[in-house]
Amino acid sequence: MERFFIISVFLLHLLVITNISFAFPLSTDTRWIVDDGDGNRGRRVKLTCVNWPSHLETAVAEGLSKQPLDLISEEIVSMGFNCVRLTWPLYLATDESFSGVMTVRQSLRKFGLSEAVSGFQANNPSILDLPLIKAFQEVASSLGNHRLMVILDNHISKPGWCCSDNDGNGFFGDKDLNPNLWIKGLTKMASIFANVSSNVVGMSLRNELRGPKQNIKDWYKYMRLGAEAVHSVNPDVLVIVSGLNYDADLSFLRDRPFEVSFKRKLVFEIHWYGFWSSWEGDNLNKICGRETEKIMKMSGFLLEKGFPLFVSEFGIDQRGSNVNDNRFLSCFMALAADLDIDWALWTLAGSYYVRDKRIDSDESYGVLDWNWSSVRNSTILQMISAIQPPFQGPGLMETQPKKIIFHPSSGLCIVRKSLFQLKLGSCDRPESFRVSSHRVLSLSEERILCLKAYEKGKSVKLRLFFSETRCSKWKLLSESKMQLSSITKNGVSVCLDVDSDTNNIVTNKCKCLEGKAICDPKSQWFKLVTSTRSRIKHKPFLQISPFLQQPLLV
Ligand SMILES: *[C@@H]1O[C@H](CO)[C@@H](O)[C@H](O)[C@H]1NC(C)=O
Ligand SMILES: *[C@@H]1O[C@H](CO)[C@@H](O)[C@H](O)[C@H]1NC(C)=O
Ligand SMILES: *[C@@H]1O[C@H](CO)[C@@H](O)[C@H](O)[C@H]1NC(C)=O
Repeated sequence: MERFFIISVFLLHLLVITNISFAFPLSTDTRWIVDDGDGNRGRRVKLTCVNWPSHLETAVAEGLSKQPLDLISEEIVSMGFNCVRLTWPLYLATDESFSGVMTVRQSLRKFGLSEAVSGFQANNPSILDLPLIKAFQEVASSLGNHRLMVILDNHISKPGWCCSDNDGNGFFGDKDLNPNLWIKGLTKMASIFANVSSNVVGMSLRNELRGPKQNIKDWYKYMRLGAEAVHSVNPDVLVIVSGLNYDADLSFLRDRPFEVSFKRKLVFEIHWYGFWSSWEGDNLNKICGRETEKIMKMSGFLLEKGFPLFVSEFGIDQRGSNVNDNRFLSCFMALAADLDIDWALWTLAGSYYVRDKRIDSDESYGVLDWNWSSVRNSTILQMISAIQPPFQGPGLMETQPKKIIFHPSSGLCIVRKSLFQLKLGSCDRPESFRVSSHRVLSLSEERILCLKAYEKGKSVKLRLFFSETRCSKWKLLSESKMQLSSITKNGVSVCLDVDSDTNNIVTNKCKCLEGKAICDPKSQWFKLVTSTRSRIKHKPFLQISPFLQQPLLV
Protein backbone atom coordinates (compact mmCIF):
# COMPACT_ATOMS: atom_id res chain seq x y z
CA MET A 1 0.00 0.00 0.00
CA GLU A 2 2.82 2.40 0.73
CA ARG A 3 3.83 2.98 -2.84
CA PHE A 4 0.21 3.61 -3.44
CA PHE A 5 -1.53 6.76 -2.58
CA ILE A 6 -2.28 8.73 0.44
CA ILE A 7 -5.94 8.67 1.08
CA SER A 8 -6.91 11.95 2.63
CA VAL A 9 -9.51 12.23 5.31
CA PHE A 10 -11.84 13.61 2.73
CA LEU A 11 -11.53 10.56 0.51
CA LEU A 12 -12.01 8.21 3.43
CA HIS A 13 -15.13 10.07 4.26
CA LEU A 14 -16.40 9.66 0.74
CA LEU A 15 -15.76 5.97 0.97
CA VAL A 16 -18.06 5.77 3.94
CA ILE A 17 -20.93 7.51 2.25
CA THR A 18 -20.65 5.98 -1.19
CA ASN A 19 -19.74 2.42 -0.36
CA ILE A 20 -23.25 1.16 0.16
CA SER A 21 -24.24 -1.99 -1.61
CA PHE A 22 -27.08 -2.16 -4.04
CA ALA A 23 -29.37 -5.04 -4.88
CA PHE A 24 -28.81 -5.85 -8.54
CA PRO A 25 -30.07 -5.90 -11.21
CA LEU A 26 -30.81 -2.25 -11.83
CA SER A 27 -33.85 -0.90 -13.58
CA THR A 28 -35.41 2.48 -14.17
CA ASP A 29 -38.20 4.28 -12.35
CA THR A 30 -39.14 7.35 -14.37
CA ARG A 31 -35.91 9.35 -14.76
CA TRP A 32 -34.09 7.50 -11.97
CA ILE A 33 -31.95 4.40 -12.06
CA VAL A 34 -32.96 2.22 -9.11
CA ASP A 35 -31.89 -1.03 -7.55
CA ASP A 36 -33.94 -4.19 -7.28
CA GLY A 37 -35.72 -3.08 -4.12
CA ASP A 38 -36.47 -6.70 -3.24
CA GLY A 39 -40.21 -6.41 -3.61
CA ASN A 40 -40.30 -2.81 -2.44
CA ARG A 41 -39.88 0.22 -4.62
CA GLY A 42 -36.21 0.31 -5.60
CA ARG A 43 -33.80 2.84 -4.15
CA ARG A 44 -31.98 5.26 -6.35
CA VAL A 45 -28.55 4.21 -7.59
CA LYS A 46 -26.63 7.19 -8.95
CA LEU A 47 -24.03 6.13 -11.49
CA THR A 48 -20.86 8.07 -10.80
CA CYS A 49 -18.43 6.27 -13.04
CA VAL A 50 -15.02 6.72 -14.50
CA ASN A 51 -14.19 5.57 -18.04
CA TRP A 52 -11.56 2.85 -18.32
CA PRO A 53 -10.42 2.54 -21.93
CA SER A 54 -9.87 -0.95 -23.27
CA HIS A 55 -10.54 -0.27 -26.94
CA LEU A 56 -7.25 1.15 -28.20
CA GLU A 57 -4.85 -0.62 -30.58
CA THR A 58 -3.92 -3.44 -28.19
CA ALA A 59 -7.53 -4.13 -27.06
CA VAL A 60 -6.25 -4.53 -23.50
CA ALA A 61 -7.49 -2.47 -20.55
CA GLU A 62 -4.93 0.30 -20.20
CA GLY A 63 -2.59 0.66 -17.23
CA LEU A 64 -2.02 -3.00 -16.43
CA SER A 65 1.68 -2.70 -17.23
CA LYS A 66 1.92 0.02 -14.58
CA GLN A 67 -0.06 -1.30 -11.60
CA PRO A 68 -1.64 -4.55 -10.44
CA LEU A 69 -5.27 -4.90 -11.50
CA ASP A 70 -6.64 -5.14 -7.97
CA LEU A 71 -4.74 -2.03 -6.92
CA ILE A 72 -6.28 -0.07 -9.77
CA SER A 73 -9.73 -1.28 -8.70
CA GLU A 74 -8.94 -0.14 -5.17
CA GLU A 75 -7.84 3.24 -6.45
CA ILE A 76 -11.15 3.66 -8.25
CA VAL A 77 -13.07 2.92 -5.06
CA SER A 78 -10.97 5.26 -2.97
CA MET A 79 -11.50 8.08 -5.43
CA GLY A 80 -15.22 7.76 -4.68
CA PHE A 81 -16.44 6.35 -7.99
CA ASN A 82 -19.02 3.58 -7.76
CA CYS A 83 -18.77 2.33 -11.30
CA VAL A 84 -16.62 1.96 -14.40
CA ARG A 85 -17.59 2.45 -18.02
CA LEU A 86 -15.34 -0.18 -19.54
CA THR A 87 -14.86 0.28 -23.27
CA TRP A 88 -14.42 -2.52 -25.80
CA PRO A 89 -13.85 -2.73 -29.54
CA LEU A 90 -16.42 -4.74 -31.48
CA TYR A 91 -13.84 -7.07 -33.04
CA LEU A 92 -12.92 -8.28 -29.58
CA ALA A 93 -16.24 -10.13 -29.63
CA THR A 94 -16.67 -10.93 -33.30
CA ASP A 95 -13.24 -11.87 -34.58
CA GLU A 96 -12.47 -15.22 -33.01
CA SER A 97 -8.90 -15.37 -34.32
CA PHE A 98 -8.34 -12.07 -32.62
CA SER A 99 -10.09 -12.35 -29.27
CA GLY A 100 -10.11 -16.05 -28.57
CA VAL A 101 -6.60 -16.83 -29.71
CA MET A 102 -4.38 -13.80 -29.46
CA THR A 103 -2.97 -13.28 -25.99
CA VAL A 104 -2.21 -10.03 -24.25
CA ARG A 105 1.50 -10.67 -24.71
CA GLN A 106 1.08 -11.22 -28.46
CA SER A 107 -1.05 -8.14 -28.83
CA LEU A 108 1.49 -5.95 -27.02
CA ARG A 109 4.35 -7.46 -29.06
CA LYS A 110 2.52 -6.80 -32.28
CA PHE A 111 2.94 -3.12 -31.54
CA GLY A 112 6.53 -3.49 -30.39
CA LEU A 113 5.64 -2.73 -26.78
CA SER A 114 8.39 -4.68 -25.06
CA GLU A 115 8.47 -2.38 -22.04
CA ALA A 116 4.75 -2.86 -21.55
CA VAL A 117 5.34 -6.63 -21.65
CA SER A 118 7.91 -6.37 -18.85
CA GLY A 119 5.63 -4.06 -16.89
CA PHE A 120 2.81 -6.55 -17.30
CA GLN A 121 5.12 -9.36 -16.23
CA ALA A 122 5.90 -7.47 -13.02
CA ASN A 123 2.39 -6.24 -12.21
CA ASN A 124 -0.07 -8.66 -13.74
CA PRO A 125 1.77 -11.88 -14.66
CA SER A 126 -1.40 -13.99 -14.47
CA ILE A 127 -3.11 -11.94 -17.17
CA LEU A 128 -0.23 -11.65 -19.65
CA ASP A 129 -0.81 -14.96 -21.39
CA LEU A 130 -4.59 -14.91 -21.37
CA PRO A 131 -6.53 -14.49 -24.61
CA LEU A 132 -7.73 -10.90 -24.99
CA ILE A 133 -11.36 -11.68 -24.20
CA LYS A 134 -10.38 -13.52 -21.02
CA ALA A 135 -8.21 -10.60 -19.94
CA PHE A 136 -11.21 -8.33 -20.45
CA GLN A 137 -13.32 -10.62 -18.25
CA GLU A 138 -10.64 -10.56 -15.56
CA VAL A 139 -10.86 -6.78 -15.43
CA ALA A 140 -14.66 -6.80 -15.11
CA SER A 141 -14.39 -9.43 -12.41
CA SER A 142 -11.79 -7.54 -10.37
CA LEU A 143 -14.06 -4.49 -10.49
CA GLY A 144 -16.93 -6.68 -9.27
CA ASN A 145 -14.79 -7.97 -6.40
CA HIS A 146 -14.40 -4.37 -5.35
CA ARG A 147 -18.14 -3.84 -5.58
CA LEU A 148 -17.82 -1.53 -8.53
CA MET A 149 -20.58 -1.57 -11.11
CA VAL A 150 -19.53 -1.98 -14.73
CA ILE A 151 -21.04 -0.59 -17.89
CA LEU A 152 -19.74 -2.23 -21.04
CA ASP A 153 -19.39 0.31 -23.80
CA ASN A 154 -18.97 -0.71 -27.41
CA HIS A 155 -16.66 2.13 -28.25
CA ILE A 156 -15.47 1.36 -31.77
CA SER A 157 -15.16 -1.66 -34.11
CA LYS A 158 -11.50 -1.80 -35.08
CA PRO A 159 -9.31 -1.29 -32.00
CA GLY A 160 -7.78 2.18 -31.93
CA TRP A 161 -8.24 5.73 -30.71
CA CYS A 162 -11.71 7.06 -31.37
CA CYS A 163 -13.28 9.11 -33.07
CA SER A 164 -13.39 11.07 -36.29
CA ASP A 165 -15.93 11.56 -39.05
CA ASN A 166 -14.15 9.41 -41.58
CA ASP A 167 -12.53 6.64 -39.55
CA GLY A 168 -14.86 3.99 -40.97
CA ASN A 169 -16.39 3.34 -37.53
CA GLY A 170 -18.86 6.20 -37.39
CA PHE A 171 -22.22 4.96 -38.54
CA PHE A 172 -24.08 1.89 -39.76
CA GLY A 173 -22.83 1.08 -43.24
CA ASP A 174 -19.34 2.50 -42.70
CA LYS A 175 -16.44 0.21 -43.58
CA ASP A 176 -16.04 -1.05 -40.01
CA LEU A 177 -19.62 -0.80 -38.85
CA ASN A 178 -21.58 -3.57 -40.43
CA PRO A 179 -24.93 -3.60 -38.57
CA ASN A 180 -25.25 -7.40 -38.58
CA LEU A 181 -21.79 -7.91 -37.21
CA TRP A 182 -22.45 -5.23 -34.62
CA ILE A 183 -25.57 -7.04 -33.42
CA LYS A 184 -23.65 -10.30 -33.34
CA GLY A 185 -20.94 -8.69 -31.21
CA LEU A 186 -23.41 -7.08 -28.82
CA THR A 187 -25.18 -10.42 -28.42
CA LYS A 188 -21.93 -12.20 -27.74
CA MET A 189 -20.79 -9.66 -25.16
CA ALA A 190 -24.21 -9.58 -23.48
CA SER A 191 -24.24 -13.36 -23.18
CA ILE A 192 -20.69 -13.63 -21.85
CA PHE A 193 -21.76 -11.48 -18.93
CA ALA A 194 -25.28 -12.91 -18.51
CA ASN A 195 -25.90 -15.09 -15.44
CA VAL A 196 -22.37 -14.61 -14.15
CA SER A 197 -21.49 -11.03 -13.41
CA SER A 198 -24.22 -9.22 -11.61
CA ASN A 199 -21.94 -6.20 -11.28
CA VAL A 200 -22.17 -5.69 -15.05
CA VAL A 201 -25.24 -3.50 -14.77
CA GLY A 202 -25.48 -1.90 -18.19
CA MET A 203 -24.43 -1.98 -21.82
CA SER A 204 -23.86 1.09 -23.94
CA LEU A 205 -24.78 0.02 -27.46
CA ARG A 206 -22.41 2.22 -29.44
CA ASN A 207 -20.19 5.17 -28.73
CA GLU A 208 -20.45 8.50 -30.61
CA LEU A 209 -22.35 7.76 -33.81
CA ARG A 210 -21.17 10.26 -36.40
CA GLY A 211 -20.01 11.01 -39.90
CA PRO A 212 -21.49 11.56 -43.33
CA LYS A 213 -23.74 8.47 -43.28
CA GLN A 214 -25.55 9.29 -40.05
CA ASN A 215 -29.31 9.65 -40.34
CA ILE A 216 -32.32 9.42 -38.06
CA LYS A 217 -34.11 6.67 -39.98
CA ASP A 218 -31.26 4.18 -39.63
CA TRP A 219 -30.72 5.29 -36.05
CA TYR A 220 -34.22 4.13 -35.06
CA LYS A 221 -33.90 0.94 -37.08
CA TYR A 222 -30.53 -0.29 -35.86
CA MET A 223 -30.60 1.03 -32.31
CA ARG A 224 -33.86 -0.83 -31.76
CA LEU A 225 -32.37 -4.05 -33.17
CA GLY A 226 -29.28 -3.64 -30.99
CA ALA A 227 -31.36 -2.90 -27.89
CA GLU A 228 -33.62 -5.92 -28.42
CA ALA A 229 -30.64 -8.19 -29.11
CA VAL A 230 -28.92 -7.25 -25.86
CA HIS A 231 -32.12 -7.49 -23.84
CA SER A 232 -33.07 -10.88 -25.24
CA VAL A 233 -29.85 -12.57 -24.07
CA ASN A 234 -29.26 -10.51 -20.96
CA PRO A 235 -32.54 -9.08 -19.64
CA ASP A 236 -30.85 -7.86 -16.46
CA VAL A 237 -28.69 -5.11 -17.92
CA LEU A 238 -29.68 -1.53 -18.52
CA VAL A 239 -29.68 -0.85 -22.25
CA ILE A 240 -27.96 2.46 -22.86
CA VAL A 241 -28.67 4.26 -26.10
CA SER A 242 -26.55 7.08 -27.50
CA GLY A 243 -27.34 9.90 -29.89
CA LEU A 244 -26.10 11.24 -33.19
CA ASN A 245 -23.32 13.71 -33.88
CA TYR A 246 -20.78 12.33 -31.40
CA ASP A 247 -23.46 11.59 -28.85
CA ALA A 248 -24.54 15.20 -28.63
CA ASP A 249 -27.96 14.95 -30.25
CA LEU A 250 -31.05 13.10 -29.10
CA SER A 251 -33.38 15.95 -30.01
CA PHE A 252 -35.29 13.82 -32.53
CA LEU A 253 -36.76 11.82 -29.61
CA ARG A 254 -38.95 14.79 -28.82
CA ASP A 255 -41.17 14.05 -31.81
CA ARG A 256 -40.84 10.33 -32.16
CA PRO A 257 -40.34 7.96 -29.22
CA PHE A 258 -37.87 5.12 -29.29
CA GLU A 259 -39.99 1.98 -29.07
CA VAL A 260 -38.73 -1.26 -27.59
CA SER A 261 -40.53 -4.36 -26.35
CA PHE A 262 -39.18 -4.18 -22.81
CA LYS A 263 -39.80 -1.83 -19.93
CA ARG A 264 -37.78 -0.15 -17.21
CA LYS A 265 -34.35 -0.88 -18.69
CA LEU A 266 -33.83 1.94 -21.14
CA VAL A 267 -31.34 4.74 -20.44
CA PHE A 268 -30.12 7.44 -22.83
CA GLU A 269 -26.59 8.74 -22.87
CA ILE A 270 -24.84 11.89 -24.03
CA HIS A 271 -21.33 13.29 -24.03
CA TRP A 272 -20.30 16.84 -23.23
CA TYR A 273 -16.83 18.34 -23.58
CA GLY A 274 -15.51 21.86 -23.18
CA PHE A 275 -13.50 21.64 -26.39
CA TRP A 276 -16.67 21.26 -28.43
CA SER A 277 -17.11 25.02 -28.25
CA SER A 278 -15.26 28.14 -27.25
CA TRP A 279 -15.82 29.14 -23.65
CA GLU A 280 -13.48 32.13 -23.97
CA GLY A 281 -14.73 34.12 -26.93
CA ASP A 282 -17.69 35.77 -25.24
CA ASN A 283 -19.15 36.77 -21.88
CA LEU A 284 -18.98 33.61 -19.75
CA ASN A 285 -22.46 34.05 -18.25
CA LYS A 286 -23.79 34.21 -21.75
CA ILE A 287 -21.88 31.13 -22.92
CA CYS A 288 -22.90 29.05 -19.92
CA GLY A 289 -26.52 30.09 -20.30
CA ARG A 290 -26.47 29.29 -24.00
CA GLU A 291 -24.68 25.93 -23.71
CA THR A 292 -26.94 24.80 -20.87
CA GLU A 293 -29.99 25.65 -22.92
CA LYS A 294 -28.55 23.74 -25.85
CA ILE A 295 -27.99 20.62 -23.74
CA MET A 296 -31.55 20.79 -22.45
CA LYS A 297 -32.85 21.05 -26.00
CA MET A 298 -30.67 18.27 -27.41
CA SER A 299 -31.15 15.74 -24.60
CA GLY A 300 -31.99 17.20 -21.17
CA PHE A 301 -35.71 17.18 -21.98
CA LEU A 302 -35.63 13.36 -21.78
CA LEU A 303 -35.55 13.59 -17.97
CA GLU A 304 -38.95 15.24 -18.05
CA LYS A 305 -40.16 12.57 -20.42
CA GLY A 306 -39.30 10.02 -17.76
CA PHE A 307 -35.98 8.58 -18.94
CA PRO A 308 -32.65 8.53 -17.14
CA LEU A 309 -29.95 10.50 -18.95
CA PHE A 310 -26.38 9.38 -18.41
CA VAL A 311 -23.58 11.83 -19.25
CA SER A 312 -21.27 8.93 -20.09
CA GLU A 313 -18.35 11.18 -21.04
CA PHE A 314 -17.26 14.59 -19.81
CA GLY A 315 -13.82 15.59 -18.68
CA ILE A 316 -11.19 18.26 -18.45
CA ASP A 317 -7.48 18.71 -18.70
CA GLN A 318 -6.38 17.70 -15.19
CA ARG A 319 -3.34 19.96 -15.28
CA GLY A 320 -5.74 22.74 -14.37
CA SER A 321 -4.24 25.29 -16.76
CA ASN A 322 -6.73 24.98 -19.60
CA VAL A 323 -8.99 28.02 -19.18
CA ASN A 324 -11.54 26.79 -21.70
CA ASP A 325 -11.92 23.48 -19.80
CA ASN A 326 -12.05 25.16 -16.39
CA ARG A 327 -14.82 27.47 -17.54
CA PHE A 328 -16.70 24.53 -19.00
CA LEU A 329 -16.33 22.46 -15.83
CA SER A 330 -17.94 25.08 -13.57
CA CYS A 331 -20.90 25.38 -15.88
CA PHE A 332 -21.13 21.59 -16.17
CA MET A 333 -21.01 21.12 -12.38
CA ALA A 334 -23.91 23.54 -11.92
CA LEU A 335 -26.11 21.64 -14.36
CA ALA A 336 -25.00 18.21 -13.14
CA ALA A 337 -25.88 19.14 -9.54
CA ASP A 338 -29.12 20.80 -10.53
CA LEU A 339 -30.35 17.81 -12.56
CA ASP A 340 -28.61 15.38 -10.18
CA ILE A 341 -27.63 13.44 -13.24
CA ASP A 342 -25.77 10.12 -13.66
CA TRP A 343 -22.29 10.51 -15.16
CA ALA A 344 -18.95 9.00 -16.14
CA LEU A 345 -15.74 11.02 -16.12
CA TRP A 346 -13.30 10.74 -19.01
CA THR A 347 -10.88 9.18 -18.01
CA LEU A 348 -9.18 6.88 -15.53
CA ALA A 349 -6.19 6.38 -17.80
CA GLY A 350 -3.03 8.24 -16.85
CA SER A 351 -1.31 6.93 -19.97
CA TYR A 352 -1.83 4.50 -22.85
CA TYR A 353 0.29 1.55 -23.99
CA VAL A 354 0.14 3.13 -27.43
CA ARG A 355 -2.09 5.80 -28.89
CA ASP A 356 -1.78 6.85 -32.53
CA LYS A 357 1.68 5.27 -32.68
CA ARG A 358 2.87 7.16 -29.60
CA ILE A 359 4.16 4.68 -27.05
CA ASP A 360 3.43 5.28 -23.34
CA SER A 361 1.46 8.33 -24.32
CA ASP A 362 0.49 10.62 -21.41
CA GLU A 363 -3.22 11.43 -20.93
CA SER A 364 -3.72 14.90 -19.51
CA TYR A 365 -7.45 14.16 -19.03
CA GLY A 366 -6.56 11.19 -16.80
CA VAL A 367 -7.50 11.31 -13.10
CA LEU A 368 -4.50 9.12 -12.47
CA ASP A 369 -0.97 10.18 -13.31
CA TRP A 370 1.27 8.67 -15.98
CA ASN A 371 2.32 5.90 -13.56
CA TRP A 372 -1.28 5.07 -12.64
CA SER A 373 -0.11 5.38 -9.04
CA SER A 374 -1.56 8.62 -7.72
CA VAL A 375 -4.22 11.18 -8.38
CA ARG A 376 -3.09 13.67 -11.00
CA ASN A 377 -4.94 16.61 -9.47
CA SER A 378 -6.65 16.16 -6.12
CA THR A 379 -8.15 19.66 -6.26
CA ILE A 380 -10.13 18.75 -9.34
CA LEU A 381 -11.08 15.34 -7.97
CA GLN A 382 -12.32 16.91 -4.76
CA MET A 383 -14.40 19.36 -6.74
CA ILE A 384 -16.01 16.59 -8.78
CA SER A 385 -16.62 14.55 -5.64
CA ALA A 386 -19.36 17.03 -4.73
CA ILE A 387 -21.61 15.47 -7.37
CA GLN A 388 -20.88 11.86 -6.42
CA PRO A 389 -23.57 11.36 -3.75
CA PRO A 390 -27.17 11.72 -4.97
CA PHE A 391 -29.18 14.74 -3.85
CA GLN A 392 -32.61 13.21 -4.45
CA GLY A 393 -34.51 10.28 -5.93
CA PRO A 394 -36.48 7.21 -4.79
CA GLY A 395 -35.46 5.98 -1.35
CA LEU A 396 -33.73 9.26 -0.54
CA MET A 397 -36.77 11.08 0.74
CA GLU A 398 -35.23 11.62 4.12
CA THR A 399 -36.46 15.16 4.44
CA GLN A 400 -38.86 17.44 2.64
CA PRO A 401 -37.34 18.90 -0.52
CA LYS A 402 -35.28 21.95 0.31
CA LYS A 403 -32.60 24.00 -1.38
CA ILE A 404 -28.93 23.81 -0.77
CA ILE A 405 -26.70 26.51 -2.23
CA PHE A 406 -24.01 24.94 -4.37
CA HIS A 407 -20.89 26.80 -5.54
CA PRO A 408 -19.99 25.00 -8.78
CA SER A 409 -16.51 26.42 -9.33
CA SER A 410 -15.26 25.02 -6.01
CA GLY A 411 -17.57 22.03 -5.61
CA LEU A 412 -18.48 23.38 -2.17
CA CYS A 413 -21.75 24.44 -0.58
CA ILE A 414 -22.85 27.20 1.76
CA VAL A 415 -22.44 25.99 5.34
CA ARG A 416 -22.70 27.60 8.74
CA LYS A 417 -19.59 29.18 10.18
CA SER A 418 -21.16 30.41 13.41
CA LEU A 419 -24.54 31.45 14.65
CA PHE A 420 -24.91 34.28 12.14
CA GLN A 421 -22.04 33.68 9.70
CA LEU A 422 -21.84 31.60 6.55
CA LYS A 423 -18.91 30.20 4.58
CA LEU A 424 -18.18 27.63 1.88
CA GLY A 425 -17.71 24.07 3.09
CA SER A 426 -18.33 20.47 2.22
CA CYS A 427 -21.62 19.58 0.52
CA ASP A 428 -21.92 16.68 2.96
CA ARG A 429 -23.35 19.06 5.50
CA PRO A 430 -24.75 22.05 3.71
CA GLU A 431 -27.13 24.52 5.27
CA SER A 432 -30.55 24.14 3.70
CA PHE A 433 -32.84 26.96 2.73
CA ARG A 434 -36.42 27.76 1.89
CA VAL A 435 -37.29 30.36 -0.69
CA SER A 436 -40.42 32.34 0.07
CA SER A 437 -42.74 33.75 -2.54
CA HIS A 438 -41.24 37.13 -1.67
CA ARG A 439 -37.77 35.82 -2.55
CA VAL A 440 -36.57 35.73 1.03
CA LEU A 441 -34.06 32.99 1.82
CA SER A 442 -34.50 31.49 5.26
CA LEU A 443 -32.95 28.45 6.87
CA SER A 444 -35.16 25.41 6.57
CA GLU A 445 -34.39 24.09 10.05
CA GLU A 446 -34.02 27.34 11.93
CA ARG A 447 -36.68 29.23 10.14
CA ILE A 448 -36.34 32.33 12.27
CA LEU A 449 -33.09 33.13 10.49
CA CYS A 450 -32.93 34.71 7.05
CA LEU A 451 -30.17 35.87 4.75
CA LYS A 452 -29.33 39.56 4.89
CA ALA A 453 -26.96 41.52 2.64
CA TYR A 454 -25.26 44.44 4.38
CA GLU A 455 -22.65 46.44 2.47
CA LYS A 456 -20.61 45.82 -0.62
CA GLY A 457 -17.50 43.87 0.41
CA LYS A 458 -18.97 42.78 3.76
CA SER A 459 -20.18 39.40 4.97
CA VAL A 460 -23.80 38.49 4.48
CA LYS A 461 -25.32 37.47 7.79
CA LEU A 462 -28.16 35.44 9.10
CA ARG A 463 -30.61 37.70 10.80
CA LEU A 464 -33.48 37.08 13.18
CA PHE A 465 -36.55 37.14 11.11
CA PHE A 466 -39.39 39.03 12.82
CA SER A 467 -40.81 40.41 9.62
CA GLU A 468 -39.81 40.04 5.98
CA THR A 469 -38.63 43.64 5.84
CA ARG A 470 -35.65 42.66 8.00
CA CYS A 471 -34.51 40.16 5.37
CA SER A 472 -32.98 40.75 1.96
CA LYS A 473 -34.84 39.73 -1.16
CA TRP A 474 -32.78 37.79 -3.67
CA LYS A 475 -33.06 37.29 -7.37
CA LEU A 476 -31.06 35.40 -9.95
CA LEU A 477 -29.22 37.66 -12.37
CA SER A 478 -27.23 37.28 -15.58
CA GLU A 479 -27.66 34.89 -18.47
CA SER A 480 -26.22 32.02 -16.47
CA LYS A 481 -28.96 32.66 -13.87
CA MET A 482 -26.41 31.87 -11.21
CA GLN A 483 -25.72 35.26 -9.66
CA LEU A 484 -27.82 35.83 -6.54
CA SER A 485 -28.34 39.52 -6.15
CA SER A 486 -29.91 41.82 -3.65
CA ILE A 487 -30.08 45.53 -2.81
CA THR A 488 -28.34 46.90 0.27
CA LYS A 489 -30.05 49.43 2.49
CA ASN A 490 -28.11 52.17 0.68
CA GLY A 491 -29.74 51.06 -2.53
CA VAL A 492 -26.64 49.42 -3.99
CA SER A 493 -27.10 46.27 -6.05
CA VAL A 494 -24.74 43.50 -4.89
CA CYS A 495 -24.16 39.81 -5.63
CA LEU A 496 -23.36 36.90 -3.37
CA ASP A 497 -19.64 36.09 -3.55
CA VAL A 498 -16.89 34.27 -1.72
CA ASP A 499 -14.01 35.96 0.06
CA SER A 500 -11.01 34.16 -1.40
CA ASP A 501 -8.94 34.39 1.81
CA THR A 502 -11.50 33.24 4.35
CA ASN A 503 -14.09 31.41 2.21
CA ASN A 504 -16.69 33.59 3.97
CA ILE A 505 -19.86 34.39 2.08
CA VAL A 506 -19.85 38.10 1.27
CA THR A 507 -21.51 40.46 -1.17
CA ASN A 508 -19.64 42.29 -3.88
CA LYS A 509 -20.42 44.33 -6.94
CA CYS A 510 -22.08 41.99 -9.46
CA LYS A 511 -19.45 40.85 -11.94
CA CYS A 512 -19.61 40.31 -15.68
CA LEU A 513 -23.36 40.68 -16.07
CA GLU A 514 -22.56 41.56 -19.64
CA GLY A 515 -19.63 42.51 -21.81
CA LYS A 516 -16.06 41.31 -21.81
CA ALA A 517 -14.99 37.76 -22.54
CA ILE A 518 -12.06 38.16 -20.18
CA CYS A 519 -14.31 38.87 -17.19
CA ASP A 520 -14.64 35.88 -14.83
CA PRO A 521 -17.87 35.63 -12.82
CA LYS A 522 -17.28 32.09 -11.48
CA SER A 523 -16.75 33.07 -7.83
CA GLN A 524 -20.27 34.57 -7.91
CA TRP A 525 -21.92 31.50 -9.38
CA PHE A 526 -24.33 29.78 -6.99
CA LYS A 527 -26.90 27.16 -7.83
CA LEU A 528 -29.96 26.50 -5.70
CA VAL A 529 -30.08 22.71 -5.82
CA THR A 530 -33.05 20.66 -4.65
CA SER A 531 -32.07 18.09 -2.06
CA THR A 532 -33.98 15.58 0.01
CA ARG A 533 -30.86 14.13 1.53
CA SER A 534 -30.47 14.54 5.24
CA ARG A 535 -27.06 15.85 6.08
CA ILE A 536 -24.77 14.24 8.52
CA LYS A 537 -26.46 15.43 11.67
CA HIS A 538 -25.33 18.30 13.74
CA LYS A 539 -27.30 20.22 16.30
CA PRO A 540 -28.94 23.35 15.00
CA PHE A 541 -27.16 26.41 16.29
CA LEU A 542 -30.43 27.80 17.42
CA GLN A 543 -32.89 25.74 19.44
CA ILE A 544 -36.29 26.72 18.21
CA SER A 545 -39.10 27.20 20.69
CA PRO A 546 -42.37 25.45 19.82
CA PHE A 547 -43.96 28.84 19.42
CA LEU A 548 -41.56 29.90 16.66
CA GLN A 549 -41.58 26.59 14.90
CA GLN A 550 -44.76 27.43 13.09
CA PRO A 551 -44.07 28.23 9.47
CA LEU A 552 -43.24 31.86 9.12
CA LEU A 553 -43.36 31.84 5.39
CA VAL A 554 -46.08 30.87 3.03
C1 LIG B 1 -29.04 -17.51 -18.28
O1 LIG B 1 -29.82 -18.35 -17.45
C2 LIG B 1 -31.12 -18.58 -17.93
C3 LIG B 1 -31.92 -19.35 -16.86
O2 LIG B 1 -31.16 -20.38 -16.32
C4 LIG B 1 -31.04 -19.35 -19.25
O3 LIG B 1 -32.33 -19.60 -19.76
C5 LIG B 1 -30.25 -18.49 -20.23
O4 LIG B 1 -30.06 -19.20 -21.44
C6 LIG B 1 -28.90 -18.10 -19.67
N1 LIG B 1 -28.31 -17.11 -20.59
C7 LIG B 1 -27.10 -17.21 -21.08
C8 LIG B 1 -26.73 -16.20 -22.07
O5 LIG B 1 -26.32 -18.08 -20.76
C1 LIG C 1 -4.92 21.25 -10.30
O1 LIG C 1 -5.96 22.07 -10.76
C2 LIG C 1 -6.01 23.32 -10.12
C3 LIG C 1 -7.35 23.98 -10.42
O2 LIG C 1 -7.64 24.02 -11.78
C4 LIG C 1 -4.79 24.11 -10.53
O3 LIG C 1 -4.82 25.38 -9.98
C5 LIG C 1 -3.57 23.34 -10.07
O4 LIG C 1 -2.41 23.97 -10.53
C6 LIG C 1 -3.58 21.90 -10.57
N1 LIG C 1 -2.56 21.15 -9.86
C7 LIG C 1 -1.75 20.28 -10.46
C8 LIG C 1 -0.84 19.54 -9.56
O5 LIG C 1 -1.74 20.09 -11.67
C1 LIG D 1 6.68 7.17 -11.93
O1 LIG D 1 7.04 6.43 -10.80
C2 LIG D 1 8.44 6.28 -10.65
C3 LIG D 1 8.68 5.31 -9.51
O2 LIG D 1 7.81 5.53 -8.44
C4 LIG D 1 9.04 7.64 -10.41
O3 LIG D 1 10.43 7.54 -10.26
C5 LIG D 1 8.73 8.54 -11.61
O4 LIG D 1 9.19 9.84 -11.37
C6 LIG D 1 7.24 8.55 -11.88
N1 LIG D 1 7.02 9.25 -13.14
C7 LIG D 1 6.04 10.09 -13.33
C8 LIG D 1 6.00 10.74 -14.69
O5 LIG D 1 5.20 10.35 -12.50
